[in-house]
Amino acid sequence: MVLSAKTEKMLNDISKAMMDEGSVTPVGMACMAFVGANVAYRVSRTLKRDAHGGTFTDFFTGSFNLLSNKESVLSRDKVKDSIDGYENLFDGARKETGKIHSDDSIKKREKEYKTMVDSFYNLVTDFYEWGWGQSFHFAPRVKGETFIESIKRCEYYLALRAGMGPKTKAIDVGCGVGGPMRNIQQFTGSDITGVTINEYQVKVGNEYCQQKGIGEKCRLVQGDFQKLDEIFEPDTYDVAFAIEATCHSPDRVKCFSGVNKSLKKGGIFVGYDWVVLPEGGFDKNNKRHLEIKEGIEVGNGLPTLATSADVVKALEDSGFEVLEHFDANKSVHSPSQIPWYDTLNGSYTIKGFRMTRLGRICTHILVNTLEFLWIAPKGTVKVSALLNATALDLVEGGKDEIFTPSYFFMARKK
Ligand SMILES: C[S@@+](CC[C@H](N)C(=O)[O-])C[C@H]1O[C@@H](n2cnc3c(N)ncnc32)[C@H](O)[C@@H]1O
Repeated sequence: MVLSAKTEKMLNDISKAMMDEGSVTPVGMACMAFVGANVAYRVSRTLKRDAHGGTFTDFFTGSFNLLSNKESVLSRDKVKDSIDGYENLFDGARKETGKIHSDDSIKKREKEYKTMVDSFYNLVTDFYEWGWGQSFHFAPRVKGETFIESIKRCEYYLALRAGMGPKTKAIDVGCGVGGPMRNIQQFTGSDITGVTINEYQVKVGNEYCQQKGIGEKCRLVQGDFQKLDEIFEPDTYDVAFAIEATCHSPDRVKCFSGVNKSLKKGGIFVGYDWVVLPEGGFDKNNKRHLEIKEGIEVGNGLPTLATSADVVKALEDSGFEVLEHFDANKSVHSPSQIPWYDTLNGSYTIKGFRMTRLGRICTHILVNTLEFLWIAPKGTVKVSALLNATALDLVEGGKDEIFTPSYFFMARKK
């Protein structure tokens, strides 16, 4: 279903009015009735994982699966503590601009990075898969390309630039549930080991590798990418790639040095990193820019966002020769492109609905209802609100071109 721009605008206006005037309550009641009728049936079902994209396919069934998932490694009674602990690391965020930009605040998160990132992904992994898919990253998108095509093109581009093929042994640094590594494995035939700090992602990802019949050549292991030398033998791998993961690193030089050590001499490291763009006008003394930056940090488990120059310097300081680097979204507003952040705005299609303003209201009501009925664990509403708020910051950062999630780099081990 694709609606005309006029109808889409009308739905957005209605949903905005519902939010602004608090008339969400009657709609909420209607939803509650619907939910109540379905809960008993749905909750008794266990989540069926589907590597081919069907785990959370439609809005309502997917939402129930998401919010009553019993497979999570985080026990239900720990969700609230976990989100409270996470929010504590960002004390003052969204209340006082600049508060989480202080040295103390950043240092606290750098010190606690493991707890911060692990808690964050325990809380959001299913939300990400439900709203986005198995590849947890953005992608430059040209007109005429579907969302999934753009995601895969962005992954295949890394494989192409790194020269991956059936004989390549590669590492995926910060692999999520392994969506990109499975796509790249199927595209190139390479042998790929992904590392993520999060136990739940390893469990889900390895199940998907088995379901796809590529478990022999593609696997996830749990580990800290700040200590890659404890996981991988030195001088062993041909290629490493990192997609929107090293932005979580409290010290890129430590992370990249571990990547460097595990690569053979001449081995290639490629990736996309999240950065703010002083070259695009980002100014840390501009209050609005700082609000956007801090909103992105608190909503995505980041110690603090780096600049592109920081990333390049960290690669050089880690023993790499940097061969190329650029913002893969540099043409984001050219007539031939669909901006990378467009999907966060949603669309009135079956898949895009959940990201629209109205879709977000529905999700919010559903999450509230399920938490109220003790089906979703306490704390889920806060997680959902955190992700909704940061989506808006990402869109603002993208519109102003002061932030990119796709700063491409290619480096060679000296
Ligand atoms: C935004 S996700 C991207 C995942 C994946 N690259 C993708 O595109 O689907 C970031 C990933 O980095 C991982 N990560 C963050 N900090 C980590 C650390 N210190 N050690 C290992 N993995 C880490 C997270 O667990 C998560 O899997």
